Amino acid sequence: MTSGQECSARPLPCGLVAPVYTMAPMVKQSDRPFRALLREHGCTLCYTEMFMADKFATCATYRRRALGDGVDKDDHPLIVQFAANDKDILLKAALEAQAMGADGIDLNLGCPQPRAREGGYGAHFAHDTGAWAKIAEMVRTCASDPELRIPIFCKIRLQPTVSATIKFASMLEDAGCALLAIHGRKLLVGKSKARDGPADLGAVAAVRSALRAMPVLSNGNVRCPADVCTNLASTRCEGIMCAEQLLKDPALFERAAAHSAKAAGSIPARLPSAEELVEEYLGLCCDFDGEDDAHCFSVWGASNGHVVREHVNRMSACVVTPDQPSAKVGSKPQEGPRPNKRPFATLVESSKDDDDATP
Ligand SMILES: Cc1cc2nc3c(=O)[nH]c(=O)nc-3n(C[C@H](O)[C@H](O)[C@H](O)COP(=O)(O)O)c2cc1C
Repeated sequence: MTSGQECSARPLPCGLVAPVYTMAPMVKQSDRPFRALLREHGCTLCYTEMFMADKFATCATYRRRALGDGVDKDDHPLIVQFAANDKDILLKAALEAQAMGADGIDLNLGCPQPRAREGGYGAHFAHDTGAWAKIAEMVRTCASDPELRIPIFCKIRLQPTVSATIKFASMLEDAGCALLAIHGRKLLVGKSKARDGPADLGAVAAVRSALRAMPVLSNGNVRCPADVCTNLASTRCEGIMCAEQLLKDPALFERAAAHSAKAAGSIPARLPSAEELVEEYLGLCCDFDGEDDAHCFSVWGASNGHVVREHVNRMSACVVTPDQPSAKVGSKPQEGPRPNKRPFATLVESSKDDDDATP
């Protein structure tokens, strides 16, 4: 896939190739069927939703709810994200993730939620300069443990200043972080969702260029396919990470490639309509639906049916903007419907209330 990215990319872990098209970690949304859908449509790296490292390290049921019987052969590379504030617990969780087939782990240093502040992890933890040495030690412990062969990544928000962000990111690099995802927004104290306003991609670019050799994924400001190319070109990062727009348009990266191809004068391939994406997703949900209650789509309390409905509603409401190579709405799927193991109705029946765990 081409992107218009012209910088010389830094070496990447996990066999990744620049530019990396990444699905961001998303509580209750990074479910297995959705990951499969994204991988079919141009995504080259997926993260899981955030798991609590202490529970993952100690509870087999939690691990099973998170990753089933282990990472499927078609679900690589997969990075398992953890909330943690203790090096030994993080290492234990990382070893369990490795045993289940994960390609890497990610330390969440960007979650702004009140529950993260209360739990002492995420963005509030990372904004406490008194905790920086502890954070560096967590990364170093995982990066240097002889038993842990998979890399550790980190996901951060911007610190209050660019120079503080560079200092923090450099510390993570020196500690052995193999890849950094930067959400180009600051922690807004007093706001629960804290995603207001545009991301500062200039700051992301400045941090990336100040780092020695650590590859960076840029996260923020993607609302249409053209934004993927603009973001990569302006930040010169090794890859891009997207969340909300992928929920609406799982073929975002495919459309971005088509956008670049069109700009370069070639004729882009036919792109899937919203209806086709919904149909494909529902087929995947039936393929991946667990046979028992322990195998759920999210450890955060959302049942399969609830997760599925949210995805379908968002995809169905997605409007193709004029700068996108047009998808043929209402056209027939290219490869026909997928065989369903169970009727879809049995998936949605078990829906429960959402407890809004979104970080
Ligand atoms: C529904 C939802 C769930 C999220 N869950 C997580 C999470 O588990 N871990 C995390 O680091 N960030 C999480 N985020 C933040 C995203 O990974 C991403 O950093 C943020 O949405 C900005 O990217 P965007 O502008 O492409 O949406 C979540 C975001 C959304 C919308």
